[in-house]
Amino acid sequence: MKTRREFLASAATAAVGASLLPAAEPVAAGDHRGEVVPLGEPRFRFLQLNDTHYQSPQAEVIHPTYNQANARVHWVLDAIRGGGVFPPLDFVLHLGDLTHQHTVDRRRELSAFKALLESLPVPTYTVVGNHDNVQGEGSPEKEAPYREVFGERFDYTFEHRGLGFVVADVSGTGNADLPPARVARREQLLRRHLDSFGDRPVIVACHVPLVSVRELPVLAQTFGFDSYMVREPGLMEILRAHRHHVVAVLSGHLHLSGTVWVEGVPHIEVCGTASYPHDVAVHTVYPNCLETRFVRLPSDLLVPSTNIHGAHRFGRDFTDAGHAEYTSYLMGHAAERLVRVPLARLGAPA
Ligand SMILES: [Fe+2]
Ligand SMILES: [Fe+2]
Repeated sequence: MKTRREFLASAATAAVGASLLPAAEPVAAGDHRGEVVPLGEPRFRFLQLNDTHYQSPQAEVIHPTYNQANARVHWVLDAIRGGGVFPPLDFVLHLGDLTHQHTVDRRRELSAFKALLESLPVPTYTVVGNHDNVQGEGSPEKEAPYREVFGERFDYTFEHRGLGFVVADVSGTGNADLPPARVARREQLLRRHLDSFGDRPVIVACHVPLVSVRELPVLAQTFGFDSYMVREPGLMEILRAHRHHVVAVLSGHLHLSGTVWVEGVPHIEVCGTASYPHDVAVHTVYPNCLETRFVRLPSDLLVPSTNIHGAHRFGRDFTDAGHAEYTSYLMGHAAERLVRVPLARLGAPA
C-alpha cells in the first residue's frame, strides 16, 4: 500500500502527463533551493508580467512616476511577438496593475491595454490590481471598468497541461473600507478553488504577496502603504491547509523582486516593468519541477528614479537582515531569482 507521500507523488506526476519522468524524490518541508534539477524536456513555459502601469496615449495627463513605463511595456510585447528574447511561451500571466491612473477614463485605459495584449501570439490571463479597480475589491461600481473589459477574471481558475492555476483577488487588502463580506467571500472562493484540483499541483496567483518578502518593519517602511502583504490572515490559513499541492504563490504589487519560502512553499514576488529594477519572470514547467527565472529588462530601459524603495523617494537606500546592500534588497539574491520547486514537493497537510 502506498504511503500518502507516494500517493501524492504519483498523483502529481500523472497530472502533468503520462509521458513524464518519475517525480523527484520528495524533500522535507523547508527551503528546497538547489535540491532539484530539471529532468526531461520542458512541458511548457509562461511569462509572468505585472505592474506595467500602462498609460494610453489618449490619457489627458501622463503621470510621471514611472517614467518610460510604456516603453518597457512595448519592449516586452515586442520581445514576445518577435521571439529570440524569451523561450517559446504558451501564455502570459499578468499579475495586476495593468494600467496606472485612477483619475482618467479607466475603461479606455484598460481597453487600450487589452488591445495590446490581444496583439500577442499567445493568450494572457489577468489578475486585477489595485490600480485597475481604484482599490475597489468588492465594490461593483469600482470593479465595473475591469469587469467590462476583461470579464469575470477576479477569483477564478484555469488549467494548462495538467497544472492548475488559482487566481485570488486581493487588490483591496489593507483598505479600511474593504467589506468584511468580501474578505469572507475571497476566502470561500480560494478554498473552493484549491479543493477543485484535489491533490494535483496548483500555482496560486495574487496581486499582493501573501507574506512579507523582506524583514517586515523595513518593508512596511520602504513600501509605505498598508498593503505590503495581504493583511487579512485567512488566505494564509487556507494555503497552509493546501501546502502539500501548492507549487508556488506568485505575486507583484511591491515593485521589488524576491522569493521567500514559507512552510515549504515559495512566495515569488516579481518587481514588474514599471519600477526599477524592472523584472519579469519566465516560469518553465518541467516534468519534475517548476523553474522560475527572473529576467531584467535591457539596461537602456532602466530608470533608477522609478525605484519606490530607495533614495529617490526617501533620500536614502535600505537593507534588511537578509540583504546587506540595497541592490539585493531591491532585486533579491541570486537564489531568489532562480527558483526550482519539485512538483512532488510533499509534506503532510495540516
Ligand atoms: Fe503596481
Ligand atoms: Fe499594486
